[in-house]
Amino acid sequence: MDIINWKEELLPYKQATDELYIKFSSIKKEYIELEQHSPIELVQTRVKSISSILDKANKRDTPLSKIFETIEDIAGVRITCKFVEDIYKVVQLIRDRDGKDLIIKEEEDYINNTKSSGYRSYHITIKYKVITTTGCKEIPCEIQIRTMAMNFWATIEHSLRYKYNGNMPKHLKEKLQACAEASFQLDTEMGTIRDEIIQTQKIIQTKENLVYKILKNIQNLYYIGKIEKMNQFNREFIDLYQEGDIDKLFNFNNKLETMANLYKVSYM
Ligand code: GTP
Ligand code: MG
Repeated sequence: MDIINWKEELLPYKQATDELYIKFSSIKKEYIELEQHSPIELVQTRVKSISSILDKANKRDTPLSKIFETIEDIAGVRITCKFVEDIYKVVQLIRDRDGKDLIIKEEEDYINNTKSSGYRSYHITIKYKVITTTGCKEIPCEIQIRTMAMNFWATIEHSLRYKYNGNMPKHLKEKLQACAEASFQLDTEMGTIRDEIIQTQKIIQTKENLVYKILKNIQNLYYIGKIEKMNQFNREFIDLYQEGDIDKLFNFNNKLETMANLYKVSYM
């Protein structure tokens, strides 16, 4: 391979990250829909830029012809979680898919084996099959799973590492190690109040889902021409919402559901 057609080569990598984005985001949506705590907080994807690929190849003395065989993080997925416990839940979710829509090649636990820099994250390297107009292709992809605190540290350390190009002053290195320790403490402390935080999140989620159902039911009254009733329920809803009592909102929605059944309103 003398000249690389970058656009053509990178296209299936983009497809892989797009598909994986949808898959991991769907997991999050499913948890929210079921009013359960989602171990996935945020999904981000990227395809490495051409200059970063070339830099990495240069650093490793990889010839151009071997770039796509040897660099395993051209396609990258980053999953951010609220708690350390969630990371291992996500790891399990990925393991459950092994041999189904992806193949796990390697796992690296930099949480239990923190790097000397202070870096913590869980890495899973996978192969993901994409089907393009020119056929099937196995795309390597690096999935990084970390908490928000780990991510905060890693993004800042990464920028500094880039700025100093491997020659970071000693005092800065030490400062970053101290920050890594603080981020570890934050994760540990947050872990101890995880159940309470999840409980609060659930209440908020239940309320959001309930309000959505109520408004949909009220809107359906409009579609079947019950304008007067719609206005009346709307006013009632505003009062109840301001009161903030979730049980009352729940009963109110039950009343709306019963009425909808009476009018045989179909839910779309
Ligand atoms: P590289 O990808 O070249 O680092 O080789 P590798 O696969 O042997 O490395 P590793 O699994 O340790 O790291 C892969 C990726 O994790 C890197 O590209 C970074 O995104 C991230 N990473 C690893 N170590 C550090 C670190 O000390 N600081 C930060 N900010 N990120 C790191
Ligand atoms: Mg690695």
